[in-house]
Amino acid sequence: KIGEWEVSQSQSAKALQDAAHYLKTKDIPVAFPTETVYGLGADATRSAAVKGIYSAKGRPSDNPLIIHVADLDMLRHILQPAAESNGTTNGSYDRIPDIYKPLIERFWPGPLTILMPNPTPSKLAPEVTAGLKTFGVRMPATPLARSLIKLVGAPLAAPSANASTKPSPTTAAHVLEDLDGRIELILDGGSCLVGVESTVVDGLCDPPVVLRPGGVSIDELRKCPGWESVEKAYKDHSEAGKAAPRAPGMKYKHYSPKARVVLYEATYPGLHEGIDHQDLELKDNSNNKVGVIRTRYWQSGGGLVCGNLREQERLTEPVEFENQSVELQVRDADLYISPGGVSIGKLLDISIGKDSRSIAHGLFSALRELDRLGADVIFVEGTVDDEDIGAAVMNRLRKAASQTKS
Ligand code: TXA
Ligand code: MG
Repeated sequence: KIGEWEVSQSQSAKALQDAAHYLKTKDIPVAFPTETVYGLGADATRSAAVKGIYSAKGRPSDNPLIIHVADLDMLRHILQPAAESNGTTNGSYDRIPDIYKPLIERFWPGPLTILMPNPTPSKLAPEVTAGLKTFGVRMPATPLARSLIKLVGAPLAAPSANASTKPSPTTAAHVLEDLDGRIELILDGGSCLVGVESTVVDGLCDPPVVLRPGGVSIDELRKCPGWESVEKAYKDHSEAGKAAPRAPGMKYKHYSPKARVVLYEATYPGLHEGIDHQDLELKDNSNNKVGVIRTRYWQSGGGLVCGNLREQERLTEPVEFENQSVELQVRDADLYISPGGVSIGKLLDISIGKDSRSIAHGLFSALRELDRLGADVIFVEGTVDDEDIGAAVMNRLRKAASQTKS
């Protein structure tokens, strides 16, 4: 029923058809699941529909959108200048630049976005590229997403389906939280497997560069012919301000929950040793709520000691977040300043696993959950491997921390 929320069964063909029909006929975007995060989709060939994305998200219109294709034929069709097209795609006339072929072979469908030259005249609405001569494109791994695109019969422009500045949504509930009243339809496909956005690469320059770290790691890219010397062209907070950001999205406030995020990058047990009372900047009373996102399992025995903060007693067993379909669980306990034992509030503690993949999967959910619980400050243990998908995790965390500090 259009006009009210309809959270449909993930595999329902009817829901897919309804969503496709809606996308073809309306100018309000539809949220749909991909393997990375939920996207906010619109027919990339219709200006009015694409404008609907910017207004629903509150996104600056100079930040281009990536498009999502169902198959390679759809991409080939877009790469042909509009004037040459006679309605059919000549599959043998392939304008896909050679540099991308090994990547497409290896990572599609999957969490990799590549920049393509936008032909003139273009079939894409100008709002998609925000005036750039290139467009970003990927083929999502989720069958639900590809089926939707196929049913619409056109590529879907889709940014992440969060309100601008918020962490990207990895469940339908997250989308609802941000966009209730602004969109009318969400396709619910459960929680997103990868949990961070796609890696964005530009192979049109030499050497090729990574514009945004994501679901495909730089190590994996380097194994592909032509990509051995791929460089990082993104700036984490620690390097910010040195050069103009190349991916337009990177200059905006991003991934920010309401609470201030404090990131500990020291190696384990960095979090334990890193937090002291000054860092907290909390009032000396017991109404504070202190969130902790832990990227390691609890050590057996012994309480959490954070500098001069001590959790007086372990109230429950540690939560281990291994099964990806399980909801995040939050442990709460009283938090005390030691050695005096003065209570300064509640500790809300989330463990999101120890390997990079489960950390990536749980990160945005954890930030949102702590917001929902009213955390005043969120401490994050940022001790993940920077080489694999951990690079994407650290990138998002550095942004979240830098944006909320001042
Ligand atoms: O995993 C993902 O990529 C998700 C899902 C929904 O597919 N989408 C997503 O879209 O994260 P968005 O719009 O939130 O981020 C796309 C990033 C932005 O940083 C944008 O600036 C950059 O890609 N981008 C898009 N087109 C570009 C272009 N032509 N040149 C440079 N950067 C571009
Ligand atoms: Mg986004």
